[in-house]
Amino acid sequence: MNQEKLIQSFLGYFGGSSEKIRIFTSPGRVNLIGEHTDYNGGFVFPAALTLATTIIARPRKDNKIRLIANDLEVMVEADLEDLSQYKSLRWGNYQLGVADELKKAGFNIIGCDLMYDDKVPLGSGLSSSAAIEIATAIALVSLGDEAYGKTKEIDMVQMALISQKAEHNYVGVMCGIMDQFASAMGKKDHAIFLDCKDLSFELVPVKLDGYSLVIGNTNKKRSLGEGKYNERRAQCEEGLSILKKEFPEAEFLRDISVSDYEGHKSMLTDDIIRKRVEHVVYENQRVIDSVTALKKGNLEVFGELMNESHNSLRDLYEVTGIELDTLVDEARKIQGVLGARMTGAGFGGCTVNLVANKSIDEFIEKVGKAYKEKIGYEASFYISDIGDGGREVEVIV
Ligand code: GLA
Repeated sequence: MNQEKLIQSFLGYFGGSSEKIRIFTSPGRVNLIGEHTDYNGGFVFPAALTLATTIIARPRKDNKIRLIANDLEVMVEADLEDLSQYKSLRWGNYQLGVADELKKAGFNIIGCDLMYDDKVPLGSGLSSSAAIEIATAIALVSLGDEAYGKTKEIDMVQMALISQKAEHNYVGVMCGIMDQFASAMGKKDHAIFLDCKDLSFELVPVKLDGYSLVIGNTNKKRSLGEGKYNERRAQCEEGLSILKKEFPEAEFLRDISVSDYEGHKSMLTDDIIRKRVEHVVYENQRVIDSVTALKKGNLEVFGELMNESHNSLRDLYEVTGIELDTLVDEARKIQGVLGARMTGAGFGGCTVNLVANKSIDEFIEKVGKAYKEKIGYEASFYISDIGDGGREVEVIV
């Protein structure tokens, strides 16, 4: 929807004039490789998409935050003085969690009306929640700063960390930092090689000569609140606590190298825990190798690493499932596909595929058909354009 329509729709819900309206946007992300490594202090390699959440925002004179999504038509009204009471909202809890965490961190948050235009498919593994969180964070901080006459630039890494806290404390998903960081810090045509241990990062140009990243959406909705995500995280912590007997200085699983693991895996007598650890240790190395390969323009090697990543998430981390595996298996049958893997947390959601431009039509047609036949409903496909991270958008109408 264009700006003018969005503003008209905002005024339709909230009334009043467009005078003080400001617009903020923040994208979803696709992770190229490095899955379930972030909360293990490891490396990830995400890129921001052009699919984003956009917020039309306007300050209010009282202490209320009112939220509406232009496609859901459910209005949520919250009292800024008591933000702890909205945790169980079906829609609105991410936003109010961010408001709560911003207040706790000392930001001046003022009453406002916010309308959400969410273009990242919800619950699809493309970080629709991080897009909402980061867009909300910059909207709330910007309106508060304006009201209090502050002109300091927003610290986007801080916005990512605060949004992650909202997810932990308000939504109950003990996520890592990847999604919020990518949504906040993304850069057009670049992927972010991020070290989740100290948040140092490098923007790596994504040059895919003759190839594209195609996203396949299983359209199987999942919610990480269901507990499997937190369970995986706890299994990694258990693995680390066992290996710490041999490697006392290891703070995270990421501090265990492939050769450390191979030399000491017999310490992990529980097979499930061993498999989880093996995935994380090797996946971390695959991120490093992928960045090297991409920098050299070696797409074959990168594609091979993508394939290994998926196989490991399927066999060792066990977070794929029939829908994701079908999309990946069918993708690999198409000539011109160098790599196919799930992206994000798993349990449904999306795949990312490295596909020769000349094979994209055939890819979408054949993979889509085979998926529908096997799973019973349609998959959707998007060519992923890599866009910029969260920001204010100039109001031009
Ligand atoms: C979700 C989480 C991230 C990350 C991925 C898996 O997207 O929000 O922090 O753990 O799963 O890589």
